[in-house]
Order: sequence, then C-alpha cells, then structure tokens
Amino acid sequence: MSLLEKFSLLGKVTIVTGAAMGLGKAMATALAEAGSHIVIADMNLEAARKTAAEIEAMGVTTLPVHVDVTDEDQVNRMVETVINTFGQIDSLFNNAGIALHIPVEEMPYSSWLNMMNVNLNSVFLVSKAVGQVMIRQKKGTIINTSSMSGIIVNMPQAQCAYNTSKAGVIMLTKSLASEWAPHHIRVNTIAPGYMKTELTKPYFEGNSEMVRQWMELTPMKRPGNPDELGGLAVYLASEASSFVTGSVFVVDGGYSVW
Ligand SMILES: NC(=O)c1ccc[n+]([C@@H]2O[C@H](COP(=O)([O-])OP(=O)(O)OC[C@H]3O[C@@H](n4cnc5c(N)ncnc54)[C@H](O)[C@@H]3O)[C@@H](O)[C@H]2O)c1
Repeated sequence: MSLLEKFSLLGKVTIVTGAAMGLGKAMATALAEAGSHIVIADMNLEAARKTAAEIEAMGVTTLPVHVDVTDEDQVNRMVETVINTFGQIDSLFNNAGIALHIPVEEMPYSSWLNMMNVNLNSVFLVSKAVGQVMIRQKKGTIINTSSMSGIIVNMPQAQCAYNTSKAGVIMLTKSLASEWAPHHIRVNTIAPGYMKTELTKPYFEGNSEMVRQWMELTPMKRPGNPDELGGLAVYLASEASSFVTGSVFVVDGGYSVW
C-alpha cells in the first residue's frame, strides 16, 4: 500500500458528534474528502441536516442523527441507527462540547455538572456504545476533541470546569487506548488552541481585550481556522497512523510552549 493509499478512508463509516458546525463540521468535511461516509450526530438537527447536504455533495453518504450525547438511551439509539444503516463503524470522533467562563466561587454546582456531562461523561457514553461494536469488529479508531486547556490554564478568563473536563478527556483517551489496544482499537485526542468557531465567535466579536491577550500569548499571533485540523483528523482515522494510540496532538499555534 502506498503512503497516499494509507490516508484513504474510501468506504469507511465515521461518526462525528457535534458535527453540525464548527470544528466537528470541518473535520467531518475533511474525512468525507478522504472518502468516508459521515454520521452527523448532533442535538441541533436542523443544522446537522444542512451540513449533511453540504457534505453529501462531495459524493459520500451522510446520515444526520439527532442525539444529546449526555443521554445514554439516545446515544445507544444513535449507534443502533448507524449500524442498521451502514452495518459498520470504522471511526468515532467525540467532538461535541461547550465552554463556560465562571469563577469557582460564583459557579452553581449545576453548571459544573452540566460541563462534566457534555464535555467528559459523553465521551465515556459514546465510546462505550461504539466500542462494543468495534470490539466485535476487532478494529476501529476513536479520536476525542480535548483542548490545550486540558494541559494549561487559560488566561485571563476563569474556566476551571472546562479545563478540568478537557484534562479528563485526555486521561480517558489514554485509558481507553490502553484497555482497547488488544481489540485493535486505537484512541487518540486532538487538543486545539484558540480556533474561530460558533463557540468562540462571541469572544472574538464581543471582548476585544480578552482576545488581544489570547493572541499576545500565542506565538503565531492568530487563531486557528477549523479546516487546519482536517489533515490531522484524516491521519488519525486512517491506516497512516497505524502505530499511534493514546497520544495527545496539540494544535495551538504554539500557545502551550510559553
Ligand atoms: N473553538 C475552539 O477554540 C476550541 C478550542 C479547543 C477545543 N475545542 C473543542 O472542540 C469541540 C467543538 O467546539 P466548537 O468550537 O466547534 O463548538 P461549536 O459550538 O461551534 O459546535 C459544537 C457542536 O456541538 C453540538 N453539541 C453541543 N452539545 C451537544 C450535546 N449535548 N449533544 C450533541 N451535540 C451537542 C452543538 O449543537 C454544535 O453543533 C468542543 O469539544 C470544544 O470544547 C474548541
């Protein structure tokens, strides 16, 4: 197999959670460009359908599915739908996530719990359901979107719940990689820095002093574009990364070197 053939995802089936917009949409588009059929698993069904139509125009099959990734029953039903439609799951991208800036002393416990549910517990739930399929298949790749915030503490905003949830995603990634290596399932995580998406748009548009500080602390002096994660997404889903598991790929314009 040539090097370029190793990057091919022709005929594969990939689930991307939170793929209706932002980083998930950009990674789903890159995976489709490499040939994969795409399941757009998102709680925003209207946006998921729109994204599905855009990706399908690239010549692959798409399946938009409504799912709240914090709800175990909905997650199990989503996986059942995918198996009934495609009969296989080659890759899973656990990407859905939220952000929140509240100082610890002011944070309602319900907000902390919600953050852990959406950003961390969902990765357990979806990985468990898809992992059962991949164990039967004796193969699969899982990629989790963590964040540089799982490794460093951002400034100047207070976001302890977000940082903690993403540190948890990194450790869950390593633990799953260890437990499932015997089943030929590889598990890795992409840790982005500041990227311009729907999630961060309010900050880029609303608080220029905070964004000025973010860029000051970024050696490359700019935010990332979602499509700058595409190459890594294809690499990690494909045979090109066949000896890579349990690894953290930081994509942050150099933020975490300082
Ligand atoms: N944008 C950044 O700068 C940045 C940096 C590092 C990490 N991340 C992470 O990347 C991931 C994607 O972020 P983004 O910036 O693209 O966000 P976004 O808000 O643009 O998109 C998130 C998507 O997830 C979906 N979603 C949210 N909660 C869900 C739930 N409970 N069930 C199903 N779908 C749900 C939303 O409907 C949306 O389509 C998140 O995990 C985020 O923490 C983002």
